[in-house]
Amino acid sequence: MWGGRFSGGPSDIMAAINASIGFDRRLHAQDIRGSHAHLDMLEAAGIVSATDAAAIRGGLDRVGQEIAAGRFVFKPELEDIHMNIEARLAELVGPVAGRLHTARSRNDQVATDFRLWVREEIDAVDAALADAQAAFIEKTEAWPDLPMPGFTHLQNGQPVTFGHHMLAYVEMLGRDRGRFADARRRLNESPLGAAALAGTPFPIEREMTAAALGFDRPAANSMDAVSDRDFALEFLAAGAITALHLSRFAEEVVLWTSAQFRFVSLSDAFTTGSSIMPQKRNPDAAELVRAKPGRLLGAFTALATVLKGLPLTYGKDMQEDKEPTFEAADSLMLAIAAAAGMVRDMEPDPGRLRAAAEVGHPTATDLADWLVRRLGMPFREAHRVTGELVAEADRRGLALPQLPLDAMQAVEAGIDESVYDVLSIERSIAARTSYGGTAPENVRRAAAAARERFL
Ligand code: ARG
Repeated sequence: MWGGRFSGGPSDIMAAINASIGFDRRLHAQDIRGSHAHLDMLEAAGIVSATDAAAIRGGLDRVGQEIAAGRFVFKPELEDIHMNIEARLAELVGPVAGRLHTARSRNDQVATDFRLWVREEIDAVDAALADAQAAFIEKTEAWPDLPMPGFTHLQNGQPVTFGHHMLAYVEMLGRDRGRFADARRRLNESPLGAAALAGTPFPIEREMTAAALGFDRPAANSMDAVSDRDFALEFLAAGAITALHLSRFAEEVVLWTSAQFRFVSLSDAFTTGSSIMPQKRNPDAAELVRAKPGRLLGAFTALATVLKGLPLTYGKDMQEDKEPTFEAADSLMLAIAAAAGMVRDMEPDPGRLRAAAEVGHPTATDLADWLVRRLGMPFREAHRVTGELVAEADRRGLALPQLPLDAMQAVEAGIDESVYDVLSIERSIAARTSYGGTAPENVRRAAAAARERFL
């Protein structure tokens, strides 16, 4: 495989630790695409004759067909996807196949293949995230004014609408898509033609291969081109943050479907039963989405650790870039699909949500705001007075809107009947018309705007 220099074969252990074909076969389509671009350029530059180029081109196409048809035999002794394809090409078209590797090294080859793969994955993730956003927007449009508790510290804070809560996730996923888009922009330079590390004496046209592969430009420095894996790191970093966001939603689904909350229900499509407790319906999909960040963060840590302190340029260490990235990408795609599926599947329970929104004097802030607006109190003073009213309501076992006027006036003489207007859940929600607030009219407008911005 490495020509005249070697006579004895590698030990079994050497072969086992060295071979990457078990996982980098996943790059077959990118490898063939890169080879076509390189070959076209070699021909255009007069480095390979038209006759030879035609023969190699036909062979590459046949290799591609064999792989697609599942007829290709991947051989561990040929180490990786690049050598497997090249060896089969030689079987098919003879020694002329060897001209393909002119002005190229596996170092720029693998860097190119892997970039193309990550770029495709970014595009797939972006489409999946857009679909998840669509699911959240659909749920918002179905429930723009359904009251539910808005929590801080998982304690009732102020009432919000179910739609408003859904739209919070649309924003998170929108930022995630932005991070992937940023990563894609930086990724989109072609390493092809950097050769082993120093460039090549052949009169190659790097602009031509870059354009053929959809890259914006060739990478400017040949050493950086073969040693850079930032594109994979950035993909994993963006993926890890996305997975964190999905896990927050998943945790809410776990809570919301529990008997103690019963805010929403999931159908058979996204739940499982227990083998011993017949009554159970477990939110396994949500729990697994909640667990996925470990894999994404683990993959990021694994790759960052591989690259840390690695001297320029290529080191075989870098072969360890692929497995965590592949695995993380698969987990991420599955987690996004599961999250979107659960959003579409879940049915809110309006009665439960509304009742939960009433618990714990959630309109106390509205009362304090009323004292500020109607009696001209400084907010801190209004906060103290409201606290006393809450304590009085608790002593009597009443909700704030049920506290009689004389009891209120005993705490603050200026209070009159009109205070009750602001104490209902619906009034509290409807009043929050500030930009980004939870008023149903805002939520409807924000859902429409989100469609414009993201879909
Ligand atoms: N399988 C290798 C990898 O994934 C391809 C590059 C090998 N280059 C080399 N100089 N041995 O990194």
